[in-house]
Amino acid sequence: MYARTDSYQPKLFYFCLFALFWVTLLLFAGGFTTTIRAGMAFLDWPLSNGSMNPQGWITETDKLAEHSHRLLGMKVGLIAIALCVWTWLRQSRGSVRNLSLALLATVVFQGLLGGARVRLDWLNTQAESNIVAQAFAVTHACGAMIVMGLFVAITVLCSRRWMDAEKRSSTIVPDSIRYLGIASTVAIFLQVLVGAVMRHAEAGLAIARFPLASADSLLPAYWNFAVSINFAHRVGAILVSVFLLLFLYRSWKHSGTRRALIYGLSLLLLLLLTQVYLGALTVWTVRNSYVATFHHLTGAFLLATTWALTFLCYAPARALAGRNT
Ligand code: HEM
Ligand code: HEM
Repeated sequence: MYARTDSYQPKLFYFCLFALFWVTLLLFAGGFTTTIRAGMAFLDWPLSNGSMNPQGWITETDKLAEHSHRLLGMKVGLIAIALCVWTWLRQSRGSVRNLSLALLATVVFQGLLGGARVRLDWLNTQAESNIVAQAFAVTHACGAMIVMGLFVAITVLCSRRWMDAEKRSSTIVPDSIRYLGIASTVAIFLQVLVGAVMRHAEAGLAIARFPLASADSLLPAYWNFAVSINFAHRVGAILVSVFLLLFLYRSWKHSGTRRALIYGLSLLLLLLLTQVYLGALTVWTVRNSYVATFHHLTGAFLLATTWALTFLCYAPARALAGRNT
């Protein structure tokens, strides 16, 4: 029988990367399902048209999107169970064990939210408005980001750098950079929430041009809920960019963080530019399915990367300075 250990376990770390790969596919499938409005391709849940292998799911795009999303959800559920068992058997660090338990609970809850979104749709309930199902869909969209964030946190905690350095308590990152990291993470999460409300209210094109919002102004010519939420997402993009650029600038100026996080910081800048461009392209292409889906996925990557870098800012000193210092 294996004993619990607090030293680096390469297989566990690679399993975490494997998990992140499948989570990415799951987010893509979910995002695509929403983009092409195929969420109700099957009216039932947990089965799809009463089956695990429903007729037409390989040949009809909406069924393919929704059913493959459900199967991927199941796969990620199994991965979360495996990670939980693995860490409880082999990890002596309570933080990792508890995080993997929290992850499993979140994945199960996320599946239930997805199921509730389907079962409570007005096609099933005959309600006069679909607000209940839409609320579940928005919560499900945000829950997905938390699932991703928990997988990322466990991956960082199981990485070699973090583990080799954990016993040292001093840190080298100034508090101001850490707080900017936290503020950026919160700002992106709120931006994702506003994006999800906009998407599920089908308000993505409520302002049909970009960067102007009306013929000659950055402000819309008229206001209603759809226009307001759409405009809030544009203002949110500016706020997110300001927070992220400040975080990047301060981290870059501080030689310790620049040396330690150079790849992560460069990736973050690239993701921010790509995300703003994909947002604009979503409008310019009149919501091309792949563009809108990649905008959703890149939003998840932007959040995950900012969260991981912020998390690393709390790493023990040696984790940031390199393994042998
Ligand atoms: C860990 C498990 C899961 C994750 C991480 C996940 C993630 C996602 C994501 C990211 C979206 C796109 C949301 C958006 O773009 O606004 C989505 C949509 C959706 N998911 Fe999941 N999902 C999971 C499990 C499930 C399960 C088990 C179901 C079962 C029915 C489900 C049903 C749906 C439906 C119906 C949509 C489309 C919602 C709509 O268009 O209104 N999901 N999911
Ligand atoms: C860096 C800032 C941005 C972030 C983090 C971000 C994130 C997101 C996310 C995650 C979604 C999908 C939400 C969901 O359903 O779960 C979304 C939707 C959307 N975003 Fe952004 N976004 C940003 C900037 C922009 C910009 C600059 C535009 C340009 C107008 C834009 C336009 C849109 C549109 C039109 C949608 C809805 C797409 C649809 O209806 O399918 N976004 N955004």
